[in-house]
Amino acid sequence: MTKSLTERDEWTNLKKHYDEIRDMHLRDHFKSDPGRGERFSIDTGDLLIDFSKNRITDRTIKLLIDLAKSCGLKQEIERMFSGEKINETEDRAVLHIALRNISQKPVLFDGRDVMPDVFKIIDKMKRISDRIRNGQWKGYSGKAIKNIVNIGIGGSDLGPVMAVEALKFYSQRDLKIFFVSNIDDAHIIEVLRNIDPEETLFIIASKTFTTQETMTNAETAKKWILSRSKREDSVASHFIALSTNHEGVTKFGIDVENMLEFWDWVGGRYSLTSAIGLSVMISIGYDNFMDMLKGFHAMDLHFRNTEFDRNIPVLMALIGVWYNNFFGSESHAILPYEQYLHRFPAYFQQGDMESNGKSVTRKGIPVNYHTGPIIWGEPGTNGQHAFYQLIHQGTRLVPADFIGFAKSLNNTGDHHDMLVANLFAQTEALAFGKTAAELKNEGTEEKLIPFKTFEGNRPSTTIMAEKLSPYILGKLISMYEHKIFVQGIIWDIFSFDQWGVELGKILAKKILSELNPAMEFKGSHDSSTNRLMQYYRNTSRS
Ligand code: F6P
Repeated sequence: MTKSLTERDEWTNLKKHYDEIRDMHLRDHFKSDPGRGERFSIDTGDLLIDFSKNRITDRTIKLLIDLAKSCGLKQEIERMFSGEKINETEDRAVLHIALRNISQKPVLFDGRDVMPDVFKIIDKMKRISDRIRNGQWKGYSGKAIKNIVNIGIGGSDLGPVMAVEALKFYSQRDLKIFFVSNIDDAHIIEVLRNIDPEETLFIIASKTFTTQETMTNAETAKKWILSRSKREDSVASHFIALSTNHEGVTKFGIDVENMLEFWDWVGGRYSLTSAIGLSVMISIGYDNFMDMLKGFHAMDLHFRNTEFDRNIPVLMALIGVWYNNFFGSESHAILPYEQYLHRFPAYFQQGDMESNGKSVTRKGIPVNYHTGPIIWGEPGTNGQHAFYQLIHQGTRLVPADFIGFAKSLNNTGDHHDMLVANLFAQTEALAFGKTAAELKNEGTEEKLIPFKTFEGNRPSTTIMAEKLSPYILGKLISMYEHKIFVQGIIWDIFSFDQWGVELGKILAKKILSELNPAMEFKGSHDSSTNRLMQYYRNTSRS
């Protein structure tokens, strides 16, 4: 029987190594190893990843790679790329890499090449997005479509919102793209308030086409269109469905002609490059969308083919394991110094936390170590004026990724130099801090020294590219996706299911049926939930 993670020699070796270097300050790492800025960075030609401000040595990396090897990482990567059903609890393959396989080399699932189907859908997405972008898609009154409302939630929302925002610079400006996800009616009502139904197209994005939030919002949208158009056939020109569920789509009243399908082997939070990305293609056009896929594909190849010691997602994952399991850090911040990436951390909150927020191994045994970290973040410099205080001087270790670009897309005065100066300054301050002696030398009042001292030794990774483009965005997303995969393998968990979201859904259905004050209240819950429900029953209709 293979040993569990923490019983392996590779783990014990890391633990010993941790005990040896845990107190070593990044100041000393840089003093004793002045070339580490060069050595611990990877330049792929279009991305520069600087790992040097992490609390690692060459030996750390070697031992982490030994651990990865002991987990069979190489074989696991091949199992994913070759379409094995690695999502065992749902009996599904995990083939998002096929969605952006622009080489069109066969990718087999159940002995069949999926690439012709993938490209058939990309072609259909192109036809639809071209018609919308050039004004040929008309609404019920003959007016061209100007507003696109994507209705979806989780993976059917966060990816498209993030990418539409990230690539706004490349967007067709006379088209407005909106996103409705929340069951809270404020979301859809505030979107519908200012748009003209005659010029509005709804994209109903749902892998299952059963998700309560999405189906409820879609029904509200349908009523809105029908009440304005007074024509049953207007659904055909105002609704598109993105789904794996033909039956559900037809039942809703959307013509299969207006349905873009994807497949069981695409996980919701990995579905951005499937038909789920239609709103992105409408916004930036087919060519830019394909550039994004090229970026994804380039990183997929890098991940599959590069030795672990130069493999970006592998190194990011291993360094994450180092902090998570040895330093005991609880969270990981993603800090883009690029306003267009303002939804990037939120996207990877789902990507990472829904994937690796698990507590049993692939054999169903409770783990005796921590798995996925809490992912959070906001764009710089905003975050500096909000939560960086805690990262600099708080009691917790918060490893952080800083993402920046050498060129601004808008080039206004000195804004960009200032933005990037702040990024570099933060990583320097986090790593090296400011000592009491330095403060003293500067003449700082004695009693203020403890408060003004920056301990430093706070790790960060910096990711730079020339500028934010569809191609680079694709690379960055794929990089994080594969990082999540690697960590799931190390932690021996299933990263592609999400059973933890089910219980709440079931209870919400039960509670919903009990909230109506006209129905007898049986009080069948615990005393807290009963009390809250009674408050709602008494107050909501009064
Ligand atoms: O509830 C979680 C979840 O299943 C996510 O994994 C998924 O991205 C989201 O709901 C939406 O699901 P669907 O695309 O089927 O509506």
